[in-house]
Amino acid sequence: MPPTPEPTQDPFFHRPELATALADQALDTSLGTSGGMFLAAPRRTGKSTFLRQDLLPEFERRNLHVIYVDLWVDKAQNPAIHIANAIRTELAREDGPVAKTLKKLSTMSKLTVGAWGNGLSFDLSQLHLSKDATLADALKALSKASQKKLILVIDEAQHALTTEEGINALFSLKAARDSLNTDPGQFGMQLVATGSNRDKLATLVNGREQAFYGADMVQFPTLGKDYVQWLVGRAKLDLDLDQATEVFLSLGSRPEPFRKALSQTRLQTALAPTQDANALLANLAAKGVSDAKTDFLNTVASLPPLQSALLRQLAADTLLGPDVRRPGLFSAAMKARLLARLEIEMGAAHGVSVETPAVQNALDKLREENFLWRSQRGSYSVEDEQFLEWLVEETGA
Ligand SMILES: Nc1ncnc2c1ncn2[C@@H]1O[C@H](COP(=O)(O)OP(=O)(O)OP(=O)(O)O)[C@@H](O)[C@H]1O
Ligand SMILES: [Mg+2]
Repeated sequence: MPPTPEPTQDPFFHRPELATALADQALDTSLGTSGGMFLAAPRRTGKSTFLRQDLLPEFERRNLHVIYVDLWVDKAQNPAIHIANAIRTELAREDGPVAKTLKKLSTMSKLTVGAWGNGLSFDLSQLHLSKDATLADALKALSKASQKKLILVIDEAQHALTTEEGINALFSLKAARDSLNTDPGQFGMQLVATGSNRDKLATLVNGREQAFYGADMVQFPTLGKDYVQWLVGRAKLDLDLDQATEVFLSLGSRPEPFRKALSQTRLQTALAPTQDANALLANLAAKGVSDAKTDFLNTVASLPPLQSALLRQLAADTLLGPDVRRPGLFSAAMKARLLARLEIEMGAAHGVSVETPAVQNALDKLREENFLWRSQRGSYSVEDEQFLEWLVEETGA
């Protein structure tokens, strides 16, 4: 008889208590309707996994109608379309009841079925998202049809700030949420979002007109010792839990480089069993980080001089902290600083232009290469906080 295959293990480490606590917080209205909840954590630390594996199922268990949209799935696609598509998909799922609800609505209110095209052939991606009413009506119809409170979960919400339509979509969502929460006979709606850069997220919660104005900004707890224990156990490695956790923390609490170091450790201890697995893991992890850092800094060093200088200058400026007004990118002060950098690095006769078109061009290139992130309003920041850290360390900037 062939050996019975081992049952596939659940590849995810679950955090049910965290899901319960965050769902409680997101839905709590004891202090009035909140502006929603914002989960912030650095890149690649497990935000999306937690949403999909733990938080969304928890919302579903609570009988909410969940709409999930990841704005980072396809960065080339306009974020507004992603949001609209997610809502459209849910509408399509509610096919029968929505059609009925719409008919009812059409007799009760000014909304005509015609406005929706032919039942659900209505194409939300064609919506003029700047018109609040339309998106709000779509959401209301959805909530009515499912007879449930809606919870819209937007992963990487800051990405909506990169286009005008994305910003408008967020305004519409705010209007929709307000009306679903205040109009009688509605089931209500709540927003939850994630994002990976506090600077960028601040824009979303601080502006009075923003969809997430007043939202609770929650520093999303990254994975920790219990995750390390779970993973080390799966890998059947004999490691000291505290030391392994140290290593995980040194990797910015990111599962991917940790998994890699564990798998290398397993291989090397299998080849030479006398080695100290704990020391090996620490060394391999440190080597992984330093390789990634060197690789990144080499890439920056081989960028055209203006791009490299700009990137490092922007990194240096973040050291000023969030409360300091930074010099404009096209200001005389910025030109002088870029020139000073270029002179130190290349000598006085560097011949690099720091005039507006050259700077604009360099910024565009840096954005295309994912070094920089640009909001629709034109502010730039370094895309990945890890990159930022390395740049700052390197330049002492
Ligand atoms: N709870 C978990 N159990 C097992 N693996 C996990 C868990 N959380 C995250 N990971 C792994 O870590 C990696 C990053 O996770 P994820 O994509 O969820 O992070 P993220 O913070 O959403 O990243 P991004 O900033 O790119 O959006 C993935 O390979 C994922 O499988
Ligand atoms: Mg994610």
